[in-house]
Amino acid sequence: MRFNFLSIAALISVATTATAQAGFCPDALRFGSISVSPTTLSPGESFTITTNLTCAVQLGNTPTFLDYYIDATSEENIGGPILIARRTYDNTTTPAQDKFTTHLPAWFYIADATYSVGVDNSFARLGPTGESVIRVGGVSTGITITGL
Ligand SMILES: *[C@@H]1O[C@H](CO)[C@@H](O)[C@H](O)[C@H]1NC(C)=O
Ligand SMILES: *[C@@H]1O[C@H](CO)[C@@H](O)[C@H](O)[C@H]1NC(C)=O
Repeated sequence: MRFNFLSIAALISVATTATAQAGFCPDALRFGSISVSPTTLSPGESFTITTNLTCAVQLGNTPTFLDYYIDATSEENIGGPILIARRTYDNTTTPAQDKFTTHLPAWFYIADATYSVGVDNSFARLGPTGESVIRVGGVSTGITITGL
């Protein structure tokens, strides 16, 4: 699993704050974590995406919207991310997760690129004047695309 926003600062922050938090939610999980099944897919094939939002909610990043993408190592491979789902999150869901089945759209994938499925979590936070501001953060996980 790869975290888009993982940084040295985040790692240091995990080390210093994680033990102080109930339920242990490291900073790296602040936007959620994503898993897919199966992880090897051919175009048209169905797969299930599960986004665990326990830590996102616990850290105050409760999603309003969740946008899902297929992305590649290099934009030239597929011409930029492919939006596969745009979902509204019901924040009363227990446990805090978003799970659904979709299919890999047929596209101009190339055999030697590395692909991932990512989610962008859009969540509201209060700014300094009390205005609700929408912020976005994402995580992704690798997939293998076969049958090309
Ligand atoms: C979701 O993530 C939390 C925090 O890492 C973990 O404790 C929990 O077991 C996960 N839930 C599932 C269903 O995997
Ligand atoms: C949960 O959803 C309701 C209805 O959309 C909204 O009013 C509320 O602010 C949300 N709570 C959080 C923590 O995002």
